[in-house]
Amino acid sequence: MPPVVVFAGRAEQRAAYERHLTDAAAAAGLEMDLRMDPAEADPATVDFLVYAQNGPVQDFAPYTKLAGILNLWAGVEAVLALDPPHDVPLVRMVEEGLTLGMIDYVVGHVLRHHLDVDRYIHTSPIAEWETDYPPLARDRIVGILGIGALGGACAERLAMHGFRVIGWSRSPKEIPGVECRHGERALDETIAEAEILVLLLPWTDATYRIMNARRIAQMPLDACLINAARGQLIDHVALLEALNAELLRHATMDVYDVEPLPPNDPYWTHPRVTVTPHIASVTRPETASEAVVAQIARHQRGEPFLHVVDRARGY
Ligand SMILES: NC(=O)c1ccc[n+]([C@@H]2O[C@H](COP(=O)([O-])OP(=O)(O)OC[C@H]3O[C@@H](n4cnc5c(N)ncnc54)[C@H](OP(=O)(O)O)[C@@H]3O)[C@@H](O)[C@H]2O)c1
Repeated sequence: MPPVVVFAGRAEQRAAYERHLTDAAAAAGLEMDLRMDPAEADPATVDFLVYAQNGPVQDFAPYTKLAGILNLWAGVEAVLALDPPHDVPLVRMVEEGLTLGMIDYVVGHVLRHHLDVDRYIHTSPIAEWETDYPPLARDRIVGILGIGALGGACAERLAMHGFRVIGWSRSPKEIPGVECRHGERALDETIAEAEILVLLLPWTDATYRIMNARRIAQMPLDACLINAARGQLIDHVALLEALNAELLRHATMDVYDVEPLPPNDPYWTHPRVTVTPHIASVTRPETASEAVVAQIARHQRGEPFLHVVDRARGY
């Protein structure tokens, strides 16, 4: 009997995922009994649940046979808050489209700050011939906190471009061209050195408000911050104070404590803040379907899933 796979993403994504999951399974030679509407399947018969935090399934209790919960999102704090069954592996999304999108976003915003593009975009005519050259990329230090699937790929690409890239993670890492650091002291040193600091850590108990007032004060004068991870990593009051005091040049924010960002939030109108609406990257149905099928095929071959969430660590 082929495994029963239920897609529990948003209803408007069903058509695209049905096509891509079917194509990916055919390409991989994987037989599966795919149900695109959770209401079409008896939960007690489901082997794999393709889960989304904004989808129709928010209670795992009836799914008593699950071999795996395949999360469509890279971030898992929302699904962990539902306390899915501990004996079922929870797999987070790592897929090419999501990674490539994040590389585009991070490289684009790093280059904007590196070249100080904003300075040369005038909303009113200014007849000033300013000739301050930006440094070469190789003379610019970019720090990346969190060098996993997304941060690691961004770090590698920025290093290929020539930037001096320092990456920081919990465990030791090796990434071509990147100075990889770990540990508490290395965190403070990295923040103190990075002229452009990118956040790509997951939101966990250990990373909540990791960019607190003390660490924001450690950032070099005129540094820029790019947060493409989660709003909960930052003490927003401290960040606004540093921006108001002109200690930091700019903050590019994609994620917030409350989303959508409330209309009265000071970030919207702050001259030193760029607000993007959680669009840094997104799971793409075509490449995500390939990743989902690859995970199911691994399990069917008796191999362990990749990218299983460590519940104790929270990511
Ligand atoms: N804005 C968007 O559109 C968007 C899209 C997708 C994802 N995201 C966010 O991006 C986050 C990262 O995704 P990912 O796929 O790259 O995750 P990942 O592969 O799990 O990488 C997480 C990285 O953070 C490090 N880390 C975690 N906790 C740490 C700690 N306490 N101290 C030091 N380092 C720590 C990990 O270190 P180790 O390598 O040592 O484990 C790893 O390098 C997601 O959790 C999500 O919140 C945002």
